[in-house]
This record gives sequence, C-alpha cells and structure tokens, in this order.
Amino acid sequence: MPKVTIVGAGNVGATAAHIIASKNLADVVLVDVAEGLPQGKALDMMHMRSVEKFTVRVTGTNDYADTRDSDVVVITAGIARKPGMTREDLLGVNAGIMRSVIGAALEASPDAVFVCVTNPLDVMTTLAYRESGVPANRLMGMGGVLDSARLSFAVCEQLGCEPADVEAWAVGAHGEGMVCWPRFTTVKGTPITELMDEEAVAACVQRCVKGGAEVVGLLKTGSAYYAPGASIAKMVEAILGDTHEVMSVCAHIDGQYGIEDLYMNVPTRLGRSGVEEIVEFDLDAAELAALQASAESVRAGLANLADL
Ligand code: LAC
Repeated sequence: MPKVTIVGAGNVGATAAHIIASKNLADVVLVDVAEGLPQGKALDMMHMRSVEKFTVRVTGTNDYADTRDSDVVVITAGIARKPGMTREDLLGVNAGIMRSVIGAALEASPDAVFVCVTNPLDVMTTLAYRESGVPANRLMGMGGVLDSARLSFAVCEQLGCEPADVEAWAVGAHGEGMVCWPRFTTVKGTPITELMDEEAVAACVQRCVKGGAEVVGLLKTGSAYYAPGASIAKMVEAILGDTHEVMSVCAHIDGQYGIEDLYMNVPTRLGRSGVEEIVEFDLDAAELAALQASAESVRAGLANLADL
C-alpha cells in the first residue's frame, strides 16, 4: 500500500486525509506539532473506517520518524487567512513554518513527491524548492486544481450544466494575480465564450478569483477546506496512479510561456515521478500577457520573501 504523509492536521490536512482514505488511495500519516490533534483525528477516521469499510490505515503523530519512506508528502502546515486578509498577508508567519517542516519531512522521505499547500502558495512552493533541493519534478503546489474547480462551479451555476461536462482552466498565481482561461473552458467541448455573453464570462471569472475569499467571508474563522482537501486528493490520485492526467498545478516553469524559473499554476501532466511535463496551450497575445503579468505578481511576493 502506498504511504502519504500530510503535514498539518488542521482542516485542510484532515479533510485531505479523510478523502484519500475514503478513496482507499494510500495509508495516511497525519503529522502536526500539536499534541493529540493528529492522533485524535486519525483515531476518528479509523472509527469511520469500520463504517465506510476502507482498508487503508490513518495514523496521527508528532514525530517525523513515523512518516518515513512516504511516497507523497503533502504540506498544509501554516495559518489560514481571516476575513479581509489576502493569501499574500500570510507570508511572514508561514515562511517560518515551511522552513521548519520541509527539512524534517525530506529527511524522513528523501524520495517522496512533495505537494505544498501552505499559502501564499506560489511563494511557499518556491521556498520549499529552494530550501530542500528536491528536483523540480518532485516538488509542486496545489492551487490550480482548486481554482479550476471554482471556475467550473461558477460555469455550472451560470449555465445549469453538470460538473462532469465542464473542463475549466484557472492558472497563474494562486492569489490576487489569478488568471482564468475562458477560451479553453468548455462545456461538452464548446468554449464558454460561445455559450454566454462577455458579461456572464466576466462574472464567472470573478466568482472563481474571489471564491476563496467568499468562503473566508462566510466562515469568518478561517478558510476553505472541503474543496482544497478534494483537490489535494485528486493530485495524489494522479501521482500514485501514474495517470498522466493534465491539470492546473503549481509547477516549476522553466522557459515555458516565456516565463523563467518560477513556481505558478500551469497545465501540468502528473504521474508517478511527479511533474512529467508542463503543457503549453496555444495562447493568444492577450492570454500570454495576462499569464506573464501573473508571474510578475509571484515575483513581487518572492521579493518580499527575500526581505524577511
Ligand atoms: C483557498 C485557500 C486554501 O483558496 O488558498 O481557499
């Protein structure tokens, strides 16, 4: 049975563990600094195991020794935003947390594929990459799957169509600089630009870009976790299952789309080795300019990191 470690037993980490276990994808180890929290959530999920009849095991620990030889390590540790905060506001606190966990996780699982989730996502994934020395194909971030799911939701609400018929693409920074690709967002293969007027397309894009903040505004005490947890599980499934599926992943861009040495969401083929390929869509000039502008927003975040 494959082994997935989830660092951080908060809402996102625990929800990802729940979905991975329910789908019987892998044994899950939840690791957290808080004593009892990962153990308690893992025990609760093991009780659920007898209801749902999944066969994988979930364990909780405060000790990275228990995470050794994981196939995939998901890093969710860090604080979440509160109403009025952007993901970028979390940089200072979460950079310290990311620095402290990546080394310990890597020491226990030197051959794992790493999936970062901590915000601000693009900057934290870059930080993990630079601190760990893990090859770029084995280190990525989860943001684009979630953003694309939110765009898909907006399209379904607008057109009254089924999620299974929608392929949605949200790329770029997982933050204020997010980019949607309406021309490549389709319902049964037809671009949404042919199915709704410009105003409706713009409303769907806004619903996607502001989707995370909309949840934060309603919850008031933290940020989203069901859709983030499901998005993590989808990536884990593609990696462990070696599916070669293409999805929006925060991957190391190295010249593709005219962007150099930067982590940001782009169409990415996932398999057992991690990132197999960054797929270059045939963008028009405006789409390319928007993606490159999004990359600049990530660079601005990286400059702030250098100042810490
Ligand atoms: C969100 C957080 C997880 O988009 O970044 O909800």
